[in-house]
Amino acid sequence: MEIKEIVKEKYGQAALRVTTGGSSCCGASATVDGCGVDPIISRLYDANQTAQIPEEAVVASLGCGNPTALAQLNPGEVVLDLGSGGGIDVLLSAKRVGPTGKAYGLDMTDEMLALARENQRKSGLLNVEFLKGEIENIPLPDNSVDVIISNCVINLSGDKDRVLQEAFRVLKPGGRFAVSDVVVRGTVPDEVKRSMLLWVGCIAGALQDEQYVSKLAKSGFDQIDIEPTRVYNIEDARTFLSAEGIDVDSIAAQVDGRFMSAFIHATKPAAACCAPGCCS
Ligand SMILES: C[S@@+](CC[C@H](N)C(=O)[O-])C[C@H]1O[C@@H](n2cnc3c(N)ncnc32)[C@H](O)[C@@H]1O
Repeated sequence: MEIKEIVKEKYGQAALRVTTGGSSCCGASATVDGCGVDPIISRLYDANQTAQIPEEAVVASLGCGNPTALAQLNPGEVVLDLGSGGGIDVLLSAKRVGPTGKAYGLDMTDEMLALARENQRKSGLLNVEFLKGEIENIPLPDNSVDVIISNCVINLSGDKDRVLQEAFRVLKPGGRFAVSDVVVRGTVPDEVKRSMLLWVGCIAGALQDEQYVSKLAKSGFDQIDIEPTRVYNIEDARTFLSAEGIDVDSIAAQVDGRFMSAFIHATKPAAACCAPGCCS
């Protein structure tokens, strides 16, 4: 509960910064670098994508990847974005699935929902709905979603097993899980991990790649794969970590190449044919 309240407060503040004309950055970006040079959240979307949606949705972006660029999305499909923030990936998905499809955004932070709904209004898109709720208790029926996307949110949850079980529940048989998230490769000492994850986000609790794969498999997913999209090195984090009083050179060898943003994809197995005509 406490993690959730802290996350809500941080992202509520981030949303208000955008609403009052500032940047959405929190954590490292807000205090040290400035968004423009943040190696995690900057330059994720190309001009072709950003031209399609209101500027305020782009400014509010706090993800660490670009799931809609990597996910297969077809006209007429239902997409759900877990932790939709200011709505950038929901609006881009809505364009891709078209008027016969639907894009849902789910977020627990009121200020983010208000920002996202305002961005939807400016976009003029009608096939979009922002839902208030927690990714650990998705307010949608079983087997109702074709594709789940998410951008740098699952690492924030204190109950990742529950999130993945809920994602599996709401996906239709054959549905796709296509998520960007921060992942740790291999074993890293706890103290180093804590310092780096402090840099990565407001409150991040990234999984090890092997843990992610095994949790997805335990939830029932198959065709699981993790593709690195950005791998961070100690120089990316040096300014922030030094300001925190951390001896950067002493941990460098344990950091380089271990922390990454990744595209994680998996599939809910298609329903087995159980009776004549059931698959038609
Ligand atoms: C790092 S931001 C990412 C926002 C958005 N995906 C993007 O790419 O800009 C995390 C968002 O997830 C939301 N969030 C975090 N934990 C959540 C939870 N357990 N349930 C619902 N929303 C959550 C926060 O309110 C915030 O809007």
